[in-house]
Amino acid sequence: MSELAEILEPTEDSIVKIVAALSLGDVVALPTETVYGLAAIVGDGTALRKIFEVKARPLLDPLIVHVLNLPSLRDLVDVDEKCFDRVRLLADAFCPGPLTFVLKKKKSVPDIISAGKKTVAIRMPSHPIFREVLRRSGPLAAPSANPFGYVSPTRAEHVRTSMGDKISHILDGGPCEVGVESTILDLSGKRFSILRPGAITAEMIGNVLGEEVEPYRPFVAADPSAPGMLKQHYSPHTKLRLFQKSVKEIIPDFWENSTQNSAAIYLSRKEMEPQRMAIGKEKHIFWLSEDGNLNEIARNMFALLRQLDTMQFDSICCQVPKKDGIGIAVGDRLSRAAAKF
Ligand code: TXA
Ligand code: MG
Repeated sequence: MSELAEILEPTEDSIVKIVAALSLGDVVALPTETVYGLAAIVGDGTALRKIFEVKARPLLDPLIVHVLNLPSLRDLVDVDEKCFDRVRLLADAFCPGPLTFVLKKKKSVPDIISAGKKTVAIRMPSHPIFREVLRRSGPLAAPSANPFGYVSPTRAEHVRTSMGDKISHILDGGPCEVGVESTILDLSGKRFSILRPGAITAEMIGNVLGEEVEPYRPFVAADPSAPGMLKQHYSPHTKLRLFQKSVKEIIPDFWENSTQNSAAIYLSRKEMEPQRMAIGKEKHIFWLSEDGNLNEIARNMFALLRQLDTMQFDSICCQVPKKDGIGIAVGDRLSRAAAKF
């Protein structure tokens, strides 16, 4: 495919077009509340393989299935009442929303989705446009719509820039509200554990279940069958380095030396803008939020990394938020993004 994908406004006509494309075996990019996804119909083996080709993703990395509601989830899993009660409790509290359940799968779930595992990852997204497509198409498998290993997309334009020559349609649902991928909760074993941190934290889940949930342990779960948990992922092309309080931790003369060509991303505009103006570093200092709000930081992180990746800096230095709430997920994505450098 040589022409760039068309970005469709979220109208009834566009939804009809997208659903028709899916039913003809195409893969399409759709907005979710977390990041944009690259979707295919769950029963369509050819389309599912195309997802892996478009993303250049290894076949041993399983996909998340997106469903409209609990009955559709239940159709795909083989769990006892007790386990389903837990799913129901959590769904009442957090779904539709950014929470993915890993559960024992039914044999009918294609192996290519689960990468041969006995479990399947399923979530109920809340984005109204994704839900409208789900209502008409049935369950959709959808990884994030980025080339494997690169920064996840939170705008329709991000998808077009990085894989627009490989797909035909992108449905525009605006900027993603959450901005980092869903929390992945493994309920398939004896102990419940967080495989990927997101907006819904271990603490929030534990409170609802009234049972202990193992918090996310960075890089320990380097299970090669779940590369989203690989140490290196989400990386920009430009060298990325992280700091806690000041960029001076990694570039000691950052403020004094006007010739060095690095960008610094701080968490809060209020703190940084006066310094930036006073020292004349306008072109080098960026921020993720007005005053350090973690949800705003999460919403803006991938977009800013992508933006700076096009600006020919020698390196990007980014401040890491505190390990609290969604800050855990932001810190996790940043450390993995920086791991290859
Ligand atoms: O927010 C999200 O979850 C986004 C949007 C598009 O819904 N999707 C997403 O998908 O992040 P993806 O493919 O980029 O990441 C899915 C992660 C991978 O790390 C994969 O290894 C893990 O889910 N995963 C999928 N099935 C699994 C399973 N059965 N057991 C353990 N991990 C699984
Ligand atoms: Mg991904």
